[in-house]
Amino acid sequence: MTQNLQQNRSFVENVFSTVFERYDVMNDLMSFGMHRIWKQRLLNIMRPSDDQSLIDVGCGTGDICDLFSKHTSNDTKILAIDPNINMIEKCKKRLGHLKNLDLKICNGEKLKVKDNSFDFYTISFGLRNTADIEKTISEAYRVLKKGGRFFCLEFSKIDNDNLDFIYKQYSRIIPRIGRYVVGDSKPYEYLIKSIENFVNQEELLEVLKSKNFKNCNYINLNGGIVAIHYGWKI
Ligand SMILES: C[S@@+](CC[C@H](N)C(=O)[O-])C[C@H]1O[C@@H](n2cnc3c(N)ncnc32)[C@H](O)[C@@H]1O
Repeated sequence: MTQNLQQNRSFVENVFSTVFERYDVMNDLMSFGMHRIWKQRLLNIMRPSDDQSLIDVGCGTGDICDLFSKHTSNDTKILAIDPNINMIEKCKKRLGHLKNLDLKICNGEKLKVKDNSFDFYTISFGLRNTADIEKTISEAYRVLKKGGRFFCLEFSKIDNDNLDFIYKQYSRIIPRIGRYVVGDSKPYEYLIKSIENFVNQEELLEVLKSKNFKNCNYINLNGGIVAIHYGWKI
């Protein structure tokens, strides 16, 4: 399941290289701080125990790694992955104090990681940016240990017509906010387009099942503005 826009890797690289400096500010502004609640919800659902390890793909500035480290002991393994060097550098600067954190530059579609290595795999607002959803999910399955769990937090499809209408109107002004805060509207035009083109909840669930994940399901947050998909490698 390839994503057309995202096939152009240098374009996607450029999007994140344009926004990385003000990425966190823009996230807070665009979501009215909601992304923090969504991410905290993800961790509450994951409920890692002290000694469980994590690979976080499309780590960006490290929000999920940061939250995970607060829920686990400081010698559990955390690996942050991102293809964008600027994002990785920001993550490193922010979380450099974590002795158990490693960082790697690579794509979610081809992880430079051994099979059966992690208890948790997370991808938060990252799957939408990969060139191939199925390859990314196959890789997630490969690197998880038996008994490991996959979690994807991602923009999804709204199940209420009124909310959908309001959200679409709001989406139209996001590129303008982007131009004001980041100095360029194009990355945010890409954001809106990539959300519109992304698979719906049921389609993503089918991909998880087709890649061998068991007991898969999803939870809609805020009426489906975002969804958390999960599954087990058994
Ligand atoms: C919207 S940000 C999300 C960052 C962070 N996970 C969060 O929730 O705030 C998307 C991240 O995915 C990364 N990304 C882009 N293409 C990717 C790919 N093919 N595989 C993995 N990550 C990718 C980007 O560089 C960026 O850091």
